[in-house]
Amino acid sequence: MSDSAELKIDGKTYNLPIIEGTENEKAFDIGGLRGETGVITIDPGYKNTGSTKSAITFLDGEKGILRYRGYSIEELAEKSSFLEVAYLLIYGELPTKEEFTQFEYDVRYHTLVHEDIKKILEGFPSNAHPMGVLSSLVTSLTAFYPESLDPNRSSEAVNLSIIRILAKMPTFAAWAYKNEIGHPVNYPDNNLDYCSNFLKMMFALPAAGYEIDPVVSGALDKLLILHADHEQNCSTSTVRIVGSSQASLYASLSAGINALWGPLHGGANSAVINMLENIRKDGGDTRKWMDKAKDKNDPFRLMGFGHRVYKNFDPRARIIKKAADDVLEKLGINDPVLDIAKGLEHVALNDDYFVERKLYPNVDFYSGIIYRALGIPVDMFTVMFALGRLPGWIAQWKEMRGNNEPIGRPRQVYVGENLRPYVDLNKR
Ligand code: CMC
Repeated sequence: MSDSAELKIDGKTYNLPIIEGTENEKAFDIGGLRGETGVITIDPGYKNTGSTKSAITFLDGEKGILRYRGYSIEELAEKSSFLEVAYLLIYGELPTKEEFTQFEYDVRYHTLVHEDIKKILEGFPSNAHPMGVLSSLVTSLTAFYPESLDPNRSSEAVNLSIIRILAKMPTFAAWAYKNEIGHPVNYPDNNLDYCSNFLKMMFALPAAGYEIDPVVSGALDKLLILHADHEQNCSTSTVRIVGSSQASLYASLSAGINALWGPLHGGANSAVINMLENIRKDGGDTRKWMDKAKDKNDPFRLMGFGHRVYKNFDPRARIIKKAADDVLEKLGINDPVLDIAKGLEHVALNDDYFVERKLYPNVDFYSGIIYRALGIPVDMFTVMFALGRLPGWIAQWKEMRGNNEPIGRPRQVYVGENLRPYVDLNKR
């Protein structure tokens, strides 16, 4: 392939340089196009627009490939741990044993949050959605660590902000849940690993302790690995674009949490379980719901199906489907919703509408079934996604800062009124 593309406007030819990634992905660079030609490109939803060059995550939607820093998601999910994957994403390489010991120690050391954060938490009504509480508590860190407001500090200072949020996010997540159910919060237990500590803060009751089940904490660890990064999706792009204004790490992450919340993104995992429950209550007729999803006059979509990038299969969904079977079997749970999910998947994979549009189950289709089996309530599912995605957001923010990327500022094609005279209020 040549190293430039030709674009012809009004008979004049312009050369656009072609850049190539390490996996041979190609893009032509339109950065100078407007200056030279006065023309911009338009691409609502950024369906065909690369916003950055990134060395963190590679995915090939046609082949169903997902890799973090060159390591396959299948291998990481099987052999690694969430904290190790977090290190890999943020610092670029798998840690040595010494590096990992230090990293794990640092994360455990910072799990406690300032007592005044409890007062902020108590200010929320108990029906507050835990995603809103989570994003607020993350932003509140800017008040407790005002030095974090400046993203141009030394790398040691930025690293401390990174460690702090990795350490405190499980505390915030568990506390958001405790607030919702009106229970006293549990403090972190630094004797425990990342997932066990979170589970204990979620489920321990004052009158009865909480026994860590390795099946439960192991399954959670795997789920978090599978969610850890996914290149330039809606929430990650939000983190990068907010950070590009030199807003602080915590402000950028909080924005990412809000972007994740919507049902077309991370909120899909709760929506899937609600949908499966509705199908079950409605008698379990999957074809009827399938027809609803295909009806263009009905806003209903099959939640957990389809993906902007994966057009063959979502490799995370494959791993999660198997993990759901394993977890339910190991915990001795028989969830009727799993049968509905499998039935729906079967019908969809053999339906022309879904086949033609390349709509397959995504990461969210089976994850909710595992969360349910682990005892996590439905409106906490997206919080779990945020917990998993945190290292990816941090890595992407750090990369964007390290590359000194310019402020994100798309253009538009204006389609409103042309200049018109103002009409006085009493003449209208
Ligand atoms: N159910 C029914 N029809 C669908 C669905 C669905 N879940 N997803 C896409 N379509 C149809 C859509 O109506 C359109 O049909 P047509 O060409 O006739 O107009 C076609 O498929 C293409 O859809 P699109 O909306 O242009 O595709 P997109 O790339 O903009 O959207 C998506 C991707 C994930 C937002 C979408 O597939 C969807 O809404 N899925 C359900 C929500 C969901 O599960 N989201 C989680 C995504 S994975 C987690 C994450 O990373 O966020």
